[in-house]
Amino acid sequence: MITLRSDSERRRRAEAALQRLRPVVADEAERALGRADAVGFLARLDLWFLDLHGPIEALYGDDEDDGLVGRLVRLALAAAVARPTELRETDRRREVEPRWYQEPRTLGYVAYTERFCGTLDALPKRLDYLAELGVSYLHLMPLLKPRPGENDGGYAVMDYRAVDPRVGTMDDLEAAARALRERGMSLCVDLVLNHTAREHAWARAWLAGDPEYADFYFAFPDRNMPDAYEATISDVFPDRAPGSFTWVGTANGGRGAWVWTTFFGFQWDLNYGNRDVFAAVLDTVLWLANRGIEIFRMDAVPFMWKRLGTSCMNQPEVHDLMQALHALVKLAAPATIFKAEAIVSPEDLVPYLGGHARYRPECELAYHNQLMVMLWSSLATKDARLAVQSLRRMATIPVDTAWATYVRCHDDIGWAVSDTDAWAVGWSPFAHRRFLNDFYSGAYPGTHARGALFQDNPETGDARISGSCAALCGISEARERGDAAALEAGIRRLALLHAVTFSWGGVPLLYMGDELALDNDTTYLDDPALAQDNRWMHRPWFDADAAARRDDPASVEGRVFAWIQRLAQARRELPALHAAGESELLAVDDPHVLAWRRRHPRSGHFVGLVNFAEHPVSVDVRAFEGLGELETVLSADDDLQLRDGRAQLPGLGFVWLAEA
Ligand code: GLC
Repeated sequence: MITLRSDSERRRRAEAALQRLRPVVADEAERALGRADAVGFLARLDLWFLDLHGPIEALYGDDEDDGLVGRLVRLALAAAVARPTELRETDRRREVEPRWYQEPRTLGYVAYTERFCGTLDALPKRLDYLAELGVSYLHLMPLLKPRPGENDGGYAVMDYRAVDPRVGTMDDLEAAARALRERGMSLCVDLVLNHTAREHAWARAWLAGDPEYADFYFAFPDRNMPDAYEATISDVFPDRAPGSFTWVGTANGGRGAWVWTTFFGFQWDLNYGNRDVFAAVLDTVLWLANRGIEIFRMDAVPFMWKRLGTSCMNQPEVHDLMQALHALVKLAAPATIFKAEAIVSPEDLVPYLGGHARYRPECELAYHNQLMVMLWSSLATKDARLAVQSLRRMATIPVDTAWATYVRCHDDIGWAVSDTDAWAVGWSPFAHRRFLNDFYSGAYPGTHARGALFQDNPETGDARISGSCAALCGISEARERGDAAALEAGIRRLALLHAVTFSWGGVPLLYMGDELALDNDTTYLDDPALAQDNRWMHRPWFDADAAARRDDPASVEGRVFAWIQRLAQARRELPALHAAGESELLAVDDPHVLAWRRRHPRSGHFVGLVNFAEHPVSVDVRAFEGLGELETVLSADDDLQLRDGRAQLPGLGFVWLAEA
């Protein structure tokens, strides 16, 4: 029985449970860890206990005998005991500087191992390259052992304790993490926790009727419940995997069953209503943290709890799950942080950073999907009004957290434009989304973009967009036509977009290939396991020839690479870009311009300005009144020019200003 309790009641129950558990755990910890480390473990237990006890009781009912909480704390203790010395050293440093990821020096890079460097053991050879860019955090795309054949880009994992043999072994992964640490870089890896591959040992045991795994997945004998749920669920992959259930003939003792599969049919959703699932996943994360992974990208978190009559996304229990998991991982491996992959509306997103009515620590980072979508939308319309409208409405995030800001990633771009925001600027939301799809897929007359529609759904008229940054910015098209002016514009667009993500505040994530303006990759069409999924067009292979041209200032690669370097360099030296501060939109009198400011108690103001129009515009400088003496730090062109009280912005230009 789950009882709904007030905060103060939950706190009282947690305190009582801690009183009961603490002496026993203290004893065990001291014996297993030694005095010094046990002191640390217990301090963390005191710090995090409320965050694990409350959510666990909310999820699994009263834990009167401390059976479940005790079991979970002991899993964390066992992991703390097993934690390698070098990682305990990282823990110590991170405990001194727990908000390291908020520093302006933090810069992420996202890459597929095999596409970036072949195998994990070859990664160290690429670290100089990453250092040239100023990267301090490397997200290696899914690399835990996937099912053979189609595997949704590695998001169908059959063994979380093994690495995809095509890129190496778990020992190689540990060595790669160590090599990164030695260069001051942190390793980020995906944790696919909403579902496993149907080939995973848990799924096989479940199929075989092993009672220990009886409730690991969701299964229904007929269409009654699936139909009832599907009435309110929207499809993630409507064209290739419609529906959220897959008939599995061998399930249910051979009688067959409909298994819950939010994504593809081979990705089986885990049943977190079962406490054993939670414990098994916790154990897996702890084990992986001890291999040297510092940042877990929590994949598809919004889907982790189902409720009839809802979208089965963003349910309150998902937040209990994340809060408890986070607290338990902090107990064992305090250097670890979580990044939420929650591609949901802004109102639903902020809670993944713990932003509820009262702060509840969950993930330290979350993808700023809204900013990404608004950047591409503004570039297409050459108008910043919708961006201003929607970004202004976003809630402030907790001071300990940070956005992961990005221009492109391995996924498609879904046009998360809220109806309210679109109407507020006088646009029809449906027509605007349609325009964006036409524009970026190359269908719109005169468009510079060379993307493609993804999951085109003629029934609803919805679609999303695939395509590399260079293809969507017009660089590819300009190259095709050999048009120097168009190429210049394309490069300016790419620089402008990154100028926003590098200074919005948070952790910018650079997506492999964008620093070299790599075009769409068509080689995926030759691989039957990939050919059906055009997201592979923007998951290119590292192009060593293109990379070699990065030192040639006359080449496209050289120009783009230099922009990224300049942005990263300037960013590092701007305290106002520390993620703890807030970005506030400035009201400027030109609709093509996005302007925002940040502030740092030590260094004063920062102002960013971008002009989405291709022609020069100007804004009244009174918009910057009270922000001190501002100087140009970095700009697409010259220092900011003032004329008749108006700041001049060249077409597709950007400027970073900071208080002198
Ligand atoms: C996330 C991934 C996406 C994948 C899905 C299912 O959204 O980014 O690539 O298809 O999860 O795991």
